[in-house]
Amino acid sequence: MPFFDRTKKATPARGDNQGPAATLLYDDWYPALRTARLKRGKLATAMLLDIPLVLGRRNDGRVFAMRDNCPHRGIPLSYGWFDGERVTCRYHGWEFEPCSGQCALIPSLSDQDRLDASRIYATAFPCEEQDGYAWVFIPRPGSGRQARGGKAPELAKFGPRYRSAHLSAELPCNVDHGIIGLMDPAHGPFVHQAWWWRSRASIREKVKRFEPIPEGFRMSAHAPSANSAPYKLLGVYGQPVETTIDFVLPNRRTETIRCGDKWFSSLTTVTPVTASTCRIDVVAAWNMFYYLPLATPIAKFFGAKFVRQDQITMIQQAEGLRYNPSLMLIDDADKPAKWYFALKQARLEAEREPSGCGSGPKHPMEGPVELHWRS
Ligand code: FES
Ligand SMILES: [Fe+2]
Repeated sequence: MPFFDRTKKATPARGDNQGPAATLLYDDWYPALRTARLKRGKLATAMLLDIPLVLGRRNDGRVFAMRDNCPHRGIPLSYGWFDGERVTCRYHGWEFEPCSGQCALIPSLSDQDRLDASRIYATAFPCEEQDGYAWVFIPRPGSGRQARGGKAPELAKFGPRYRSAHLSAELPCNVDHGIIGLMDPAHGPFVHQAWWWRSRASIREKVKRFEPIPEGFRMSAHAPSANSAPYKLLGVYGQPVETTIDFVLPNRRTETIRCGDKWFSSLTTVTPVTASTCRIDVVAAWNMFYYLPLATPIAKFFGAKFVRQDQITMIQQAEGLRYNPSLMLIDDADKPAKWYFALKQARLEAEREPSGCGSGPKHPMEGPVELHWRS
């Protein structure tokens, strides 16, 4: 699967090609990297929300994520050493326990020194391994909190036997553009034209029901577009096919397709790497076509093509966004994007007035609604 597992680099995603910055949502979990990159005794780096991270796996199997700066003089800890127990800074050799960040040794201290090394901490973030990703909880800068909001998100699975795949692509636009591109129903017939998916001529009117869920919205269970080939294939099981798509803050789209005891499940996230660039990650699991020998590579191949089409479009969009054009959101096809911005705004406001009236962020939807568009 060489065409699939590689993280595709979007052409110049740095320097002056960066679009406008987005407001970032903290106090939440984001996927930093694939844990396959965490090799024994090695350190790996990643960037989340403009924060440089150094990640690794301890000898006992636990994954960790620290800020990639030594608290002494700021040099990246990733230039140092890791023996499976402690991270050692390459500048003055301070040693840290990487899950807590606690300093375990300052080699330069003599018997005369009264400094207690164990009271010094490098910044360590809560980090959990889930579905092959190292998920990192990023607290609000300066909040000083090591609070973690529950557990890292997990891809839903509906049985013990399944196959799975993942893919990533870097996008040269800010996280807001990445997310609204993800939930945009109207680009399908133009961006994803392909004989195996659908053609531009297949555009027709869609009516979809949406309902509010905590910090997000759900496209209610429905029979998926009858005019796309992969969905037609699912009909082979001869049972009704039902799809549910949820979006929840800060960046997660989950899709579940069920057909009798067959299922497909995916979790897609658009993660801010910096305030003006992001990365899309898709992880999926399914038990449909479980015994078909080539089903996994074929699914990966088409999944990668699909995401590549979105990526190319966003690289082109970023060219335009460099010049800060004015933009618009229209009804109803851009309604999910409007909900996203309103949900985000509500969370930011709730953060400014913590535990105000105890009601939490205000939801922009009053109840279920039907949206109509052609795609
Ligand atoms: S900079 Fe890391 S030990 Fe001095
Ligand atoms: Fe797309």
